[in-house]
Amino acid sequence: WPLALGIWAASYLVGSLPAGYLAGRRLKNIDIREFGSGSTGATNVLRTLGKGPAAAVLLFDVFKGFFTVWLARTLAGSEEAGNWIVLGAGLAAIVGHSWPVWLAFRGGKSVAVSVGLLLGMHWPVALTVATVWGVCFALTRIVSLASIVAAAATPLCFYLWGAPLPYTLFGLLGGIYVVWRHRGNIERLLRGTEPKIGDPAAR
Ligand code: G3P
Repeated sequence: WPLALGIWAASYLVGSLPAGYLAGRRLKNIDIREFGSGSTGATNVLRTLGKGPAAAVLLFDVFKGFFTVWLARTLAGSEEAGNWIVLGAGLAAIVGHSWPVWLAFRGGKSVAVSVGLLLGMHWPVALTVATVWGVCFALTRIVSLASIVAAAATPLCFYLWGAPLPYTLFGLLGGIYVVWRHRGNIERLLRGTEPKIGDPAAR
């Protein structure tokens, strides 16, 4: 237990590294949470700071997830109990990204960090979920809608790929959490006011 708790605390801290917020502070000395959707994620960085910073934040946030699984797996060992520790580490990293202690618990929506977590846990699932995201985004140009559909599809993808139970459970709990983090987006989607990427009026 002490080892598991230590790994989960470290995972929370890795997840909470606020790349999007720091990009806003460094490049324009703004609090990015006062702009666009109010999120610290790469999509809001794209809206507020442009493509280069968005790509850097996206890569960093994906890496946080991948690193979390690597760390948990390395410290916990690869036996079956390790999968349960990785499940907790993944959830801790997701919570860390969206509730960072450094930013009064107001961060992002944990999509990019989840992609990194999936890559670390089970890359075929990560590729399948990324494909679902890509198809939805290509059809709608709405990032949040693609993220919501991909998050909802994640537990099914784990199940269909025959992944270990803790990973499938991670997909279920993480997927529910990420959809819940998008509740403001869901309201805008229902009202028809959610911005599309590439739409000049979309801020
Ligand atoms: O990754 C978050 C994305 O799904 C939505 O971001 O800023 O449009 O709420 P945003």
